[in-house]
Amino acid sequence: MKVLANDGISQSGVDALKSKGFEVITTKVAQEQLENYINENKVDALLVRSATKVRKELIDACPSLKLIGRGGVGMDNIDVAYAKEKGLHVINTPAASSASVAELVFAHLYGGVRFLYDANRNMPLEGESKFGQLKKAYAGGIELRGKTLGIIGIGRIGQETAKIALGVGMKVVVFDPFIDDVTIPLEFFDGQKVEFSIKTISKEEVLKQADFLTLHVPAQKEYVLGKKEFEIMKDGVGVVNAARGGVIDEVALIEALDSKKVSFAGIDVFENEPTPAIKVLMHPKISLTPHIGAATGEAQDRIGVELADQIGELLK
Ligand SMILES: NC(=O)c1ccc[n+]([C@@H]2O[C@H](COP(=O)([O-])OP(=O)(O)OC[C@H]3O[C@@H](n4cnc5c(N)ncnc54)[C@H](O)[C@@H]3O)[C@@H](O)[C@H]2O)c1
Repeated sequence: MKVLANDGISQSGVDALKSKGFEVITTKVAQEQLENYINENKVDALLVRSATKVRKELIDACPSLKLIGRGGVGMDNIDVAYAKEKGLHVINTPAASSASVAELVFAHLYGGVRFLYDANRNMPLEGESKFGQLKKAYAGGIELRGKTLGIIGIGRIGQETAKIALGVGMKVVVFDPFIDDVTIPLEFFDGQKVEFSIKTISKEEVLKQADFLTLHVPAQKEYVLGKKEFEIMKDGVGVVNAARGGVIDEVALIEALDSKKVSFAGIDVFENEPTPAIKVLMHPKISLTPHIGAATGEAQDRIGVELADQIGELLK
């Protein structure tokens, strides 16, 4: 059986698939040539990340396909219901990247409270001539320890983020309309374990209490943070979005940054991906990453192996 991993797959995933007897093709086929390629090569399973689109037309045009796999969480690029209706298996790896996304959130938070996003822009330009001025400009940092992190959405990634926050001594407040309480297991390097329970509170309370806010919700029809929500927040709050473009109103965010309501933002996902608004890219108070939440070796290894295991089960 043939598996086309069109947006790439980790070597561990390739090895796991090969050991189960699958032929793995890792050629990147352009979207418009995909239909021909799948039919000519009689591909059984198509694996994608977020780049390749698997729409109704492609599913209809490729009768050899038995399985569509998404390495990662969101399946916005796949017509899932239609594929299932046509009898195809549709799989993803929802938990594999949660810890990596949570670490990126903290990269943005730690970078934010010490102005790393700005220092890294200005040190190459003026570090030699204005060292003292830059030192002064970036001197007003704060610690995360003891501050309150507001988590909006306490699913897989929200919980991984809470684990780190608790570990570094932050208070954690949570809003999730579908969850009343969560028990988060904190596991230490030597096998010791502590369980920490958190009751969710209202969105308004989270917005009022948080020194920092991070979003971990699925794609939504409406903004989760817009003008109204920014008004409720504490002055000087830091905001991170590593969930989905479109859950924060970027125009309202820029206004809130300019008015100093928000002191900095960490943004990994953008409303207009893959061509984010220039106002967001150029803003001096935004710490930027190009949608790399899940892009660690460890997450990609887990994704590859999880896909291989599921494919092995479903197509054996
Ligand atoms: N930056 C990246 O590279 C990256 C990587 C993986 C996932 N993600 C994104 O992270 C997000 C979260 O993923 P997850 O695996 O934790 O999902 P999940 O389904 O485990 O958790 C989502 C949580 O959000 C809650 N929720 C839904 N609507 C809400 C709302 N309006 N307000 C508050 N809570 C709400 C749900 O009840 C659920 O508990 C998704 O959007 C996913 O696409 C980003």
